[in-house]
Amino acid sequence: MLRFDYSGVSSSIIGEENGLDLNTEFDNYKNQIADIITDLNKRKDKPGQGLQWMNLGYSEETAWYVKEYSALVENRFDNLVIIGIGGSALGGIAVTEALLPPYWNYLSKEERNGYPRIFFLDNIDPDYTYSLFSMLDLKKTLVNVITKSGDTTEIMAQYMIVKDLLEKELGDDYRKNIIATTDKRSGILRQIAEQEGYKTFVVPDDVGGRFSVFSAVGLLPFALVGIDIDEIFNGVKDMDFVLKNTDIYQNVAAQNALIHYLLACKKGKNISVLMPYSSKLKSVADWYCQLWAESLGKSVQIDENEVNLGQTPVKALGVTDQHSQLQLYNEGPNDKIITFIRVDEFEHNTEIPKIFEYTGIGYLGGKSLNMLMNSEADSTKVVLSENKRPTVTLYLPKVDGYNIGQLLYMFEFQTAIAGSLYGVNAFDQPGVEQVQNYTYALMGRNGYEDSANSIRSKMALL
Ligand code: PA5
Repeated sequence: MLRFDYSGVSSSIIGEENGLDLNTEFDNYKNQIADIITDLNKRKDKPGQGLQWMNLGYSEETAWYVKEYSALVENRFDNLVIIGIGGSALGGIAVTEALLPPYWNYLSKEERNGYPRIFFLDNIDPDYTYSLFSMLDLKKTLVNVITKSGDTTEIMAQYMIVKDLLEKELGDDYRKNIIATTDKRSGILRQIAEQEGYKTFVVPDDVGGRFSVFSAVGLLPFALVGIDIDEIFNGVKDMDFVLKNTDIYQNVAAQNALIHYLLACKKGKNISVLMPYSSKLKSVADWYCQLWAESLGKSVQIDENEVNLGQTPVKALGVTDQHSQLQLYNEGPNDKIITFIRVDEFEHNTEIPKIFEYTGIGYLGGKSLNMLMNSEADSTKVVLSENKRPTVTLYLPKVDGYNIGQLLYMFEFQTAIAGSLYGVNAFDQPGVEQVQNYTYALMGRNGYEDSANSIRSKMALL
């Protein structure tokens, strides 16, 4: 199982000004935490609560449909393009980067065991869009359009571009190259998919984008590139079992949520850095940033108190960012809590050859990159602690489907608990929707004319 070490936030190590007496705090909060966990589990099956993500690890039916379709199209496509943004893309990126062999898209078809290359189009940069579709053989390209709402501007614009290109290239057959993953009933993409006769998958009710990685949003792309989704489910289910425990001393998500909450509220640590020591986990940090930011960054609490809450999440990569961000983390404002992710066992043990023994780099010979990675992570943790900076560490036995399932589910649960501690709705995103509405107006969508005039007059002042 994933392990958690919070000794780096202890006030006995980094001092009272920056650290916490966790025995006292866990005792103080144990009843509130138990109530929060009980409440989440009680509400999870009720419609309208946004908590269906807690059941996704058990959705055997979705897994079955996803596997059935993946088997049907096996070997038919060389490329898989995912069109999605935010929660519809970040989980997919994080998991495929973690679980596929590095440089997947550069491997030959044989090396990929016949599975397609995978591309995520999660931005509307005109050059990237143009270049991607100019480069790919569209006949051999399967496109998965993912949008829960079914009318997100960026996604629908990309969809319109690719639909047109595919139709020009393939004639009437183009429909076989598009899959839509969207809401069961509502939204423009649902309507179009039914009219056009695309294969469709469902984003379940009460699952927000950033909590959707274990629904068809993530599972379908994973299965299409040969990732074992049962292994991921096993990790999610085992972690869910652990997190059902209402005892804070046994519940890693509750511990990390409370640590982050208290450090923000009591010690001014308004920044949460996630720093995995594994390139495979680089995009897990991206995914976490969206989860933490969009869920907790709120201007009103559930009881309608006006507030401006939320820790700013920052992604960093060990060891790369030791040569970029670490100077600031060590000596700049002491306003961060840093979460390290360490991997016990890498797939390869990459040795450094015993050469140049007569020079100052001779000491490296005969050691491994694995040892170097661990020594750098240890050094970083110790120096940060000497500088009174709070850190926690999550240990993954290795980067595989089982552990990724555990890790991501743990972060989701941690976020839900943190939302309850802050008293905010962790499952909405009004600040994102406001910008979408303004974009509709500026792009000339019917019904938004008045809003467009008001935005333009405000823009003239900016
Ligand atoms: O987490 C969220 O809910 C958001 O990031 C959405 O996923 C994102 O805005 C895209 O929305 P949609 O899936 O409706 O296109």
